[in-house]
Amino acid sequence: GSTLQAAAAESGRYFGTAIAAQRLNDSTYSTIANREFNMITAENEMKMDATEPSQNQFNYTNGDRILNWALQNGKQVRGHALAWHSQQPGWMQNMSGTALRNAMLNHVTQVATHYKGKIYAWDVVNEAFADGSSGARRDSNLQRTGNDWIEAAFRAARAADPGAKLCYNDYNTDDWTHAKTQAVYTMVRDFKARGVPIDCVGFQSHFNPQSPVPNNYQTTLSSFAALGVDVQITELDIEGSGSAQAENYRKVVQACLNVSRCTGITVWGVRDTDSWRASGTPLLFDGSGNKKAAYTTTLNTL
Ligand code: XIL
Repeated sequence: GSTLQAAAAESGRYFGTAIAAQRLNDSTYSTIANREFNMITAENEMKMDATEPSQNQFNYTNGDRILNWALQNGKQVRGHALAWHSQQPGWMQNMSGTALRNAMLNHVTQVATHYKGKIYAWDVVNEAFADGSSGARRDSNLQRTGNDWIEAAFRAARAADPGAKLCYNDYNTDDWTHAKTQAVYTMVRDFKARGVPIDCVGFQSHFNPQSPVPNNYQTTLSSFAALGVDVQITELDIEGSGSAQAENYRKVVQACLNVSRCTGITVWGVRDTDSWRASGTPLLFDGSGNKKAAYTTTLNTL
């Protein structure tokens, strides 16, 4: 294939990007996005603060803009994210206990119902585990409602949209030996054993010199897949430039290709200037929309 989406499709996979609604009017941006990618994630527009700015008052304007752009251009959509400790609306940040639990479940139900039938996979819960060596859940207002908040969110999402794959998504879960990776693995194994509805695990995969692509990345992907879930690389970006950056992209793409249940890769933005990494150059296109070495290597590896 001569584009990322066409090359990925040769092995039955997708290649996606995060899209920001306010950039869709930039024709350089939308031309590249439409040409290269066939799976779309809203970078911010489907998050809790965007979709429920006041309690029980839902706003789908920008989420729908991205969804409709994607569907009109023949693409699929990853929903991101139904429940998360971050980017909560102000009214939710100060809630606790049963009221918060019910508000969270209502949010999951309402948003998944609004997008019912249109989402390939939802990140139902994002970033619920702590960094470091504890292997514990991250402390958050949601976690303080009870350890079962994650499975409650998954059950609500399944009831609202039975056709969407339901994913757990996190970062710093790429290294198989990392306590956080093992903790997520144990949760997914438990969910599968008890029949909690989970279909996939997303690996954000934000890499940089402090957090490089681990040599055991493929082991991580294949170990999760062996639990009976799909795995997806959901927010890929790799700090660097030139051939060193390209080589890191090659390692990530090859690891996914080597795991049959690795169903697709999404990069977290189009051009370096679109990246959430303010001064970095972690993506596949430069600020002018030119293909970087990392692009060519990614295309040739797919
Ligand atoms: C980031 C967006 O890219 C930024 O625009 C926003 O200011 C903060 O969130 N993990 C996630 C993503 O799951 O939702 C985050 O996206 C990046 C880290």
